[in-house]
Amino acid sequence: MIFSLNSCFTPTHSFKNSKLLGYDLKKTGPSFPLGKQKVEVKGVDVALGEGTRPPQPLTFTSPLLAPAPCLLGIADQCHSPCGLPAATLPPERVSHSCGAAPHTRLFRLGRNKDRKQILIQTPWPAKSVFTALGALAELFFQRHPGCWKMLTVAMCMALLGCLQAQELRGHVSVILLGATGDLARKYLWQGLFQLYLDEAGKDYSFSFHGAALTSTKQGQAFIAKVLESLSCPEDVAPDRCAELKGQFQRLSAYRHLATSEDYMALSKDIEAQVQHGGLREAGRIFYFSVPPFAYADIARNINSSCRPGPGAWLRVVLEKPFGHDHLSAQQLATELGGFFREEEMYRVDHYLGKQAVAQILPFRDQNRKALDGLWSRHHVERVEIIMKETVDAEGRTSFYEEYGVIRDVLQNHLTEVLTLVAMELPHNISSSESVLQHKLRAFRALRGLQKGSAVLGQYQAYSEQVRREQQKPDSFRSLTPTFAGVLVHMDNLRWEGVPFILMSGKALDERVGYVRILFRNQAYCVQNDEHWVADQSQCLPRQIVFYIGHGELGSPAVLVSRNLFRPSLPSESWKELGARPGLRLFGRPLSDFYAYRPVREQDAYSVLISRIFHGRKDSFVTTENLLASWGFWTPLLDSLAHEVPRLYPGGAENGHLLDFEFSGAQLYFSQRQPERLVPGPGPAPMPSGFQVLKAKYRESPLISAWPEELIAKLADDIEATAVRAVRRFGTFHLALSGGSSPVPLFQQLATRHYGFPWAHTHLWLVDERCVPLWDPESNFQHLQTHLLQHVRVPYYNIHPMPVHLHQRLCAEEDQGAQTYASEISALVANSSFDLVLLGMGADGHTASLFPQSPSGLDGEQLVVLTESPSRPFQRMSLSLPLINRARKVAVLVMGRVKREITMLVSRVGHEPKKWPISGVLPSSGQLVWYMDYEAFLG
Ligand code: BG6
Repeated sequence: MIFSLNSCFTPTHSFKNSKLLGYDLKKTGPSFPLGKQKVEVKGVDVALGEGTRPPQPLTFTSPLLAPAPCLLGIADQCHSPCGLPAATLPPERVSHSCGAAPHTRLFRLGRNKDRKQILIQTPWPAKSVFTALGALAELFFQRHPGCWKMLTVAMCMALLGCLQAQELRGHVSVILLGATGDLARKYLWQGLFQLYLDEAGKDYSFSFHGAALTSTKQGQAFIAKVLESLSCPEDVAPDRCAELKGQFQRLSAYRHLATSEDYMALSKDIEAQVQHGGLREAGRIFYFSVPPFAYADIARNINSSCRPGPGAWLRVVLEKPFGHDHLSAQQLATELGGFFREEEMYRVDHYLGKQAVAQILPFRDQNRKALDGLWSRHHVERVEIIMKETVDAEGRTSFYEEYGVIRDVLQNHLTEVLTLVAMELPHNISSSESVLQHKLRAFRALRGLQKGSAVLGQYQAYSEQVRREQQKPDSFRSLTPTFAGVLVHMDNLRWEGVPFILMSGKALDERVGYVRILFRNQAYCVQNDEHWVADQSQCLPRQIVFYIGHGELGSPAVLVSRNLFRPSLPSESWKELGARPGLRLFGRPLSDFYAYRPVREQDAYSVLISRIFHGRKDSFVTTENLLASWGFWTPLLDSLAHEVPRLYPGGAENGHLLDFEFSGAQLYFSQRQPERLVPGPGPAPMPSGFQVLKAKYRESPLISAWPEELIAKLADDIEATAVRAVRRFGTFHLALSGGSSPVPLFQQLATRHYGFPWAHTHLWLVDERCVPLWDPESNFQHLQTHLLQHVRVPYYNIHPMPVHLHQRLCAEEDQGAQTYASEISALVANSSFDLVLLGMGADGHTASLFPQSPSGLDGEQLVVLTESPSRPFQRMSLSLPLINRARKVAVLVMGRVKREITMLVSRVGHEPKKWPISGVLPSSGQLVWYMDYEAFLG
């Protein structure tokens, strides 16, 4: 006989859908049949009955056991005849040869006289196990019919044993790092207690380790105090609450955790606890409630000394800030990636745990039918994502001074909310993976921000607070914004053209957070408005609001205008809000809305801690999403680094000082700045008032003004030239340069010049970088972003430079330059543009004609390939001779960095080899210089 059942054919432990069975493997050979399959045991003599074999790894192979049965090892002790305690196997004896597949179950196969047992971890479905065991039993009784009686007795005993047997429960250890800190005290301990209330008594047992660098005595005292202050939800009776609190207190302990030895000891203690409790380790959660500079050390220690054994998961929870900009976020992510796998990291954005925010996707999902026709640019007028605070930054200026409101709130909380509103809705919103993927796509559809996309403010007391808290000199003035409004657009079919307004600030008049989707009103109601009825009139405002909290309502809520549709919300967690006569929200009485609030209000951290436990990655920020968000915000932050924020007094006194409005892609404060309240970083000895200075520069007319005035004047002049050209010739040929200086001009033309004859304008490029046209560095891309997409120029009037032909960039043999020259010759009379807009580089270059350029400065060629001293090195450019054929050339020079070259060029003669700009002199046209005061006066 190759296989024998001993008298202990006994189910020893019951799992949810399966049983554990004991076998005597005493006489088992290197292989044995299991049903119709043959199970091979490799690598060991399994005749353990002799008791001579040291434990060692084994592997079982059998198609029946596929896909990955895994023998973990051999345990020594068996404390009871049949019901063996779980996890008697020391971890070092466990074979690591097979990875833990998810949902594996731990099976113990057998024990023998020597009191050894074999542990097998296997992803068998319970059904196959029973099928196999049925087959085994059949086989056995065919050979030993006499044993039937004996087995019946054994089965009865087994049943008894089974009744007494305990489930092999999963044990979860939560290690709260920074357990004595502010966040832990205010939210995290309560969140962990809630986790315990929700999950204990189900499939898991818990232990909570509060860790910090504080001395053991102080730490213990702190934790005892915090635990005492924990509260139960309202529906838990006081006695029951006290009992549960007592249990939680017994499971929670403080430990000093600093060195790698401390981490090793922690790991050993967890293992011992699991072993003694007869448990199976399910996983470990490390919650980093510590400053980011401490991350690396802790991460290293966890990774090297405190990972759980195979089959158990590790989850590390990280709190913001996750970097300061794209680069630092990337560095931090790379560093953490050296210790943890992506699926192990849970980056918290606590706004994702706010109940109204967490309800956005489920709401969109449950109301798909009603929303399908509404959730797009065709119906949505705008989306407002708002977080107003009354508190200021006092006491945290050392953090705040480095971050400011955009990094503190907009880059994370408000952007996360934005993506939940804007993303395409996955078919299955319970799949974390698809939610995260759709979210990432939403990030990618965000249109790049410009300086003009934001308005900034700072409450008046802020600089003084920084000086006091950080011992700065009296002269110190901070430029850190404490208020920001930002206008965001999405470049996709659903949201094209819909303004998303993100706004947050400290020291404002009220504390409130909400996302408001305001729908267009396309109806005209004939009846007098006195007769308009909330759920019938299409003329009343139509809006959906996810009310995050505070404000007039004082609780989270979901509001839907009655003239939209009656929404469906999960009744077990959301209930209708009772009437609140007199309460008005967003200009309407509450009774105008279908209004819901959570049945049980939960703190964001409690929600998120539960999601960590359940492995819901979509409630957290993945590395990809984090970097996408920083990629979106960093250029704006860079461009605003020296921007002077508008000062505001704080609170109700702010009045309308911070109100803003938008036009096109630009955001403006509605009220003009009454005076310059914060001096800029440098001296500003500028002419007062807004005026335009007219003078001569290199014998040609010069117009100089503040940047805003200058751009307005240039735009006016271009429009006037365009109108004249169209009147005379029917078309207007305009050649535009790249770079950053013309960007505000494009924006100005796009938003303020309604009389511009775009339908008759041909747009040409003065120069181009040899990159694909969709590349953000491409001049055409700038033109597209800031001008073309806002105006109606016929497609066939747009003439990008052909730098990307045959899948390669600016190859001579592709003759791109010649092609462009031919196009110009064919469409522009005498190859004479009506207007060419140029810039001037700090080295005296213009277009893409650089000093010492071997081509383009003279000769016959109209368009040339050139080389730039800076990246991208290859360029295509109109030649000087072609530029000089234009009827009018405007040179725009902006910024202090141009001051030196402006002075130099004012003195030099015609020396295009050294300073190509000095070769610009239209043969029969006009040259006009447009310089802002900084470029002209310094
Ligand atoms: C934090 C910011 O992330 O969110 C704080 O750092 C801000 O500056 C806080 O006050 C707001 O959160 P809540 O939950 O109070 O809206």
